[in-house]
Amino acid sequence: MTLRVAIVGGGPAGIYAADILTKSETAVSVDLIERLPAPFGLVRYGVAPDHPRIKEIIKALQRVLAKPEVRFLGNVDFGVDVKLEDLREFYDAVIVATGAMADRDLDIPGEELSHGAADFVSWYDAHPDVPTTWPLDAPSVAVIGVGNVALDVARVLAKTGEEMLSTDIPAHVHAGLAAKTTTDVHVFARRGPAYAKFSPLELRELNHSPNVEVIVHPEGFDVDEHGMAHIAEHKAQKMVLNTLANWVGREPEGKPHRIHLHFAEAPVEILGDQRGVTTLRTERTHSPNADGSVEGTGEITDWDVQAVYRAVGYRSSALPGLPFDDRAAVIPNDGGRVLDLDGRPIPGTYVTGWIKRGPVGLIGHTKSDAAETVGHLLAETTATATAREPGDVDAYFAERGVRVATHESWELLDQHEIALGEAEGRLRIKVGDRAEMLRVGTSA
Ligand SMILES: Cc1cc2nc3c(=O)[nH]c(=O)nc-3n(C[C@H](O)[C@H](O)[C@H](O)COP(=O)(O)OP(=O)(O)OC[C@H]3O[C@@H](n4cnc5c(N)ncnc54)[C@H](O)[C@@H]3O)c2cc1C
Ligand SMILES: NC(=O)c1ccc[n+]([C@@H]2O[C@H](COP(=O)([O-])OP(=O)(O)OC[C@H]3O[C@@H](n4cnc5c(N)ncnc54)[C@H](OP(=O)(O)O)[C@@H]3O)[C@@H](O)[C@H]2O)c1
Repeated sequence: MTLRVAIVGGGPAGIYAADILTKSETAVSVDLIERLPAPFGLVRYGVAPDHPRIKEIIKALQRVLAKPEVRFLGNVDFGVDVKLEDLREFYDAVIVATGAMADRDLDIPGEELSHGAADFVSWYDAHPDVPTTWPLDAPSVAVIGVGNVALDVARVLAKTGEEMLSTDIPAHVHAGLAAKTTTDVHVFARRGPAYAKFSPLELRELNHSPNVEVIVHPEGFDVDEHGMAHIAEHKAQKMVLNTLANWVGREPEGKPHRIHLHFAEAPVEILGDQRGVTTLRTERTHSPNADGSVEGTGEITDWDVQAVYRAVGYRSSALPGLPFDDRAAVIPNDGGRVLDLDGRPIPGTYVTGWIKRGPVGLIGHTKSDAAETVGHLLAETTATATAREPGDVDAYFAERGVRVATHESWELLDQHEIALGEAEGRLRIKVGDRAEMLRVGTSA
């Protein structure tokens, strides 16, 4: 008998789980249920357009989707088009891999005047469910947070629209970026430089644009004994610190756009009115604590900026019919087994990726994550005669008028985007409109 598994979420975590299932000794049949007509999650809708090398990973993910045991069922919204109890009828087990798409809150006055980095990323990556316009008329912008998302956001805000034209961005994103009037992007870390969460390579790349100068401000650029102990244990952070230290106080080259990095400045308030942001207020911090946490010194600075972006982490969302730990923003689990409110495993229900362990980690981390989850699933689940056939699932969606985007639909869309790119000497141009994605995917 074949073990029938539904995976909800077609990002890397879901696709790696499908891959590992097909490589097991158990006969499996896997349906990958994805809200969007296109697979790959944040690899397509998070990784920055000017990072085509990272998007190459899609080729490996694509090979998993092409396996005969795996079906891609796109344009299906779990919780709306199909519920957990329906999936239980059709499958022996369900793996939830819905990742994260929202922004974490900052919890400071005036936060409602700010933009979430996730929303901006969704716009420039042409996510089909977000508006096609974005306000980019602020000459000076603040970005809060010093992780890789903050770097992506700062870089896209600082680079010229022309620099971004060689990427896969569609016309509406290019037009938005080309009309941008931003000259200065101020990035704020609440802690010292030893705790910046940038990847070394991504940080160094910031310096490669002919139009963007990186200015590391010396105020707050201190590394105390706790910071030294931290970098001694974190090799990547030591490399980041070395790069930053090389940049502090260097002579400006006079490039037209600037990214300023400010350390030990915690955001305390965003000021403005309906017309927009006028000021970001920050407080200088110091770090008397061995764990690297900071305290305010009372020294306040007002920064003259006209837009503020929160790049302080993503947040997963609760799903209908499944428990959710609102504080950690994950589905409670034990190594991938979903736990009920009493902490007991819910049979046949598993979780993997960012919704399992929180929104931190690289694409590669979702592979080991999926291995742990699938290991438990295979050890605990057996195929039953009651689980229904793929044709029954297709009939279920057809009866409800759900227009499923299959793997073949994705292949058509993929070829179409590549052809659009070729016509302009680019690798690809994305289609960002859901109706158009579906139309292209069905026009054989
Ligand atoms: C802006 C950004 C840039 C990044 N850049 C890099 C990078 O350059 N290199 C790197 O290694 N890592 C990068 N990462 C990290 C990487 O993207 C994540 O580690 C990885 O995508 C997490 O995988 P996931 O499958 O858990 O979640 P996701 O990639 O978020 O995939 C979840 C999928 O579930 C789908 N889904 C959600 N809800 C539903 C529902 N109700 N029904 C059906 N489907 C649903 C979503 O549409 C999505 O396709 C980046 C992250 C971000 C936020
Ligand atoms: N190119 C790439 O490889 C790439 C690109 C994008 C994302 N990613 C990965 O995706 C994951 C998510 O990235 P991310 O940048 O969203 O998260 P992150 O790495 O966790 O960084 C979040 C940043 O926000 C700061 N922050 C949190 N709360 C704050 C607050 N209240 N006030 C001020 N600052 C606050 C954090 O500072 P503290 O340290 O002080 O908490 C940290 O600097 C990471 O693993 C990242 O490496 C990779």
